[in-house]
Amino acid sequence: MSRTARVLAAAALLLLFGGALLFLQEGGGGARGAAAPVDLTTSTSCRACHQDVWDEWAASWHAQAYTDPLVLAPAQSDNFRKEECLPCHAPAPVFESGLGKQRVFERVTERELGVDCLSCHRAHDRVVGPASAAAGAATAACAPEPTLALASPALCAPCHNQHTTVDEWEASSYAKAGVTCLDCHMQPVTRTRPDGSTRPGRSHLFPGGHDLATLQRAGTVEHAVESLPDGSRQLRVQVTNSGAGHNYPADARHRALDLVITLLQHDGIAVPPRDSGRGYGRERGTARRRFRNPYREETERLTNLERYGRENTQIIAGETLSLAVPFDPAVVASARIELIYKLTPIQLDDEGVRVHDATVPLR
Ligand code: HEC
Ligand code: HEC
Ligand code: HEC
Ligand code: HEC
Ligand code: HEC
Repeated sequence: MSRTARVLAAAALLLLFGGALLFLQEGGGGARGAAAPVDLTTSTSCRACHQDVWDEWAASWHAQAYTDPLVLAPAQSDNFRKEECLPCHAPAPVFESGLGKQRVFERVTERELGVDCLSCHRAHDRVVGPASAAAGAATAACAPEPTLALASPALCAPCHNQHTTVDEWEASSYAKAGVTCLDCHMQPVTRTRPDGSTRPGRSHLFPGGHDLATLQRAGTVEHAVESLPDGSRQLRVQVTNSGAGHNYPADARHRALDLVITLLQHDGIAVPPRDSGRGYGRERGTARRRFRNPYREETERLTNLERYGRENTQIIAGETLSLAVPFDPAVVASARIELIYKLTPIQLDDEGVRVHDATVPLR
């Protein structure tokens, strides 16, 4: 036998052996409940009995992780030609690769389901369920094993700590108070069983940066007019991360939050570009500050570098950052204060989402 043939034969044997093991494992699952065991090779098998969970998940970004046009874009995964993008966007079960700081493995089947049921709920030959199991769970076809770790941030970490979201949470007052990812991202819901009885559940929508209501809970915007020692005045706008349990904007990728202040004259028109020597800002009487984690491409985008600098300006949980703009009360009557959330740093102001937009008189 040639060397290649020997390797091939060995590989074939391994495959056969592996197949037999799988077969044995699946057969073994039946012993746990009277019902036929659930097919743990595909998430679609969960749908028949958990349609409500399925519908929430299908509307979530977890379900779009492999089909999201932003991820498929040529400059991004390039239709996943960049294979290093596969692990978190089409993951194998994290209970098998390991929670916390462990690396996620890519899945080879049904990648289009993205972060699917099995990614979070399969541990080899069994289904992982909440620690306090619902009545009837033990004898259900899926026989979920009560597991404390399912509710812990360590479940999210293999995928969400790439850009330190879980570390940020750990360092925040929320962690100390026992407020976890689930409290803010998996709202309690009531599930109805086929017989009409109910049990508590948790929404699988996982709202985040694409959801306006979640964004509006993240921050508080306040303003005050300050008199300086030389008699001049300035408007100070403060943005507080009052509702996100980690840096705001949370960011595994490219998010930006722009604070834009536009000074308005008595006639309501924006103050013209600086010509009087009084610096109101950079563009037509506006001043800006960007909150973000510096992006990888920024090294190539000189404009952003010049404008926003290299440092990380995300707002830490509980922290307040501000922007002050001097103004001349004889010219300026009011100011428009906008806080604009952008899914990518290159979005224009009008493409972003205004989480705050108010025009306030300045007296
Ligand atoms: C043949 C029906 C059936 C299938 C298929 C099924 N389950 Fe279940 N599952 C149940 C029933 C019944 C319960 C008990 C709770 C209830 O009555 O809603 C349950 C409970 C659970 C629980 C625990 C609920 C709790 O609060 O304790 C989890 C988690 C779960 N299933 C996940 C899955 C996953 C993941 C799949 C797919 C791999 C799956 N199930 C497939 C019927 C099913
Ligand atoms: C370690 C896990 C991990 C890897 C590897 C990974 N991602 Fe992600 N990606 C995530 C998570 C988690 C999110 C969502 C969380 C967030 O945006 O804060 C995300 C979100 C994104 C988004 C934003 C999607 C949207 O709708 O706004 C893009 C784009 C993206 N990833 C591209 C990539 C590309 C390109 C690669 C490969 C170079 C990659 N990712 C590799 C975990 C990962
Ligand atoms: C196996 C990997 C993986 C695990 C585990 C995981 N996620 Fe995600 N999550 C992702 C990816 C990938 C995305 C981005 C999908 C996209 O937009 O393309 C994402 C997106 C999100 C979003 C953003 C939605 C938006 O609007 O952009 C939130 C919120 C989120 N996940 C929360 C969680 C929480 C909380 C946990 C733990 C309970 C968790 N995830 C576990 C991979 C994972
Ligand atoms: C990103 C990870 C993640 C994904 C994806 C996911 N789940 Fe869950 N699931 C959880 C967590 C976390 C809990 C809550 C655990 C707790 O409360 O202890 C949960 C709870 C449940 C429960 C019990 C509570 C309820 O609302 O009924 C069921 C049933 C369930 N999941 C089924 C599914 C099914 C079916 C899918 C696929 C359509 C799915 N899950 C996808 C993480 C996930
Ligand atoms: C106190 C509530 C709270 C807690 C706790 C919390 N979050 Fe968030 N999270 C938010 C809010 C509000 C936003 C929207 C603002 C933002 O993007 O920062 C958000 C946004 C996100 C996003 C969206 C990112 C995107 O790009 O769309 C992800 C992912 C996320 N959180 C993951 C987590 C994980 C993982 C944990 C636990 C380690 C967690 N969150 C804990 C409130 C919370």
